[in-house]
Amino acid sequence: MNRTDVVDVAIAGAGIIGLSLALELRQRGLSVTVMERGQAMSSASWAAGGMLAVNDPQNPAELMPLCVRSWELYPSYLEIIESLSSLPVPIRTRRTLQEGEPASKSGQDTTATEIAQLAPGLNPAGHSFVWLEEGSVDPNDLRAALPAALLAAGGTLLESAEVLGIESADGGVRVQTERENILAGTFVNCCGAWAGGEPCGGVPVEPIKGHMVNVRCAPDRLRCVVRTPGVYLVPRGDGRVTVGATLEHVGFDEGVREAQVSGLLEAALRLLPEATIPSPIDAWTGLRPGTPDGLPILGPAQRANCWHATGHYRDGILLAPVTARVMAQAMLGETPEVSLAAFSPSRFRSW
Ligand code: GLY
Repeated sequence: MNRTDVVDVAIAGAGIIGLSLALELRQRGLSVTVMERGQAMSSASWAAGGMLAVNDPQNPAELMPLCVRSWELYPSYLEIIESLSSLPVPIRTRRTLQEGEPASKSGQDTTATEIAQLAPGLNPAGHSFVWLEEGSVDPNDLRAALPAALLAAGGTLLESAEVLGIESADGGVRVQTERENILAGTFVNCCGAWAGGEPCGGVPVEPIKGHMVNVRCAPDRLRCVVRTPGVYLVPRGDGRVTVGATLEHVGFDEGVREAQVSGLLEAALRLLPEATIPSPIDAWTGLRPGTPDGLPILGPAQRANCWHATGHYRDGILLAPVTARVMAQAMLGETPEVSLAAFSPSRFRSW
């Protein structure tokens, strides 16, 4: 028979949301176990572009308070992760060339001189850009550092431990996993694109696949993010430039398809004609957790002592610090520093 561990909080999903929430709760003195059916930070959190896209015009307006607060929290969030893990997680870029009206009035018009300074390799012909003060991180850095930070903080991480069932127990929840059983005061569903499935689910989350591919370019030829409605470029500072991303409604298919990769490469080479394509091609996919209204799902579930923190769609990396903060506040009975009214699971009444 599996052994049973007793913890304050059991979190399903060791992506950036689940791990960041676990870290926040550990810092408040709670015991935490994070359960992951595969390996930590190996799904959307790793596949992501890593743009901290506060002003992406494609974001719903209701997201802005969360985006702004999360960007404010980013320096201290990274500092804690770096100091606990002893691994670097630098902000890799600090400016973005955004095509289209930014979500707030913070954009400044570009000049050819400025583009020549930060993006001399860019072919801006046919595009109208504004500058944004926005950061980006490399999800590979977080993939290494965040699980290590949680362990250093005294959290428990169970990998290859799919949640098989949850049931209400006296004042809490009994969670059955492939590896062991956990008796927790509180359970949180941070399962990303898988958050709608049984047994954790009950929320309308749909996987939205994104193809990504790396090209190469001398680091001094592109030192900012470039974001157009169809494609974005995120330089990593070491010659890699990550190109994203498709938006595909194809269920849980995670396969890499040639047509989608070729489309991204063509668009990238139009913007950055001097980029080269590595051989073999370095392409991958991720499944974003989409919701019917494009907003995350943050708050109590219908089952007692259970919560959801999922549905971050294209902004999981940006929104991790604020999600950890407001979820911990709500779970501990405090007033969240950003209102969660627009993100309540109860807005999907039939669920
Ligand atoms: N976060 C960028 C994307 O979803 O493609």
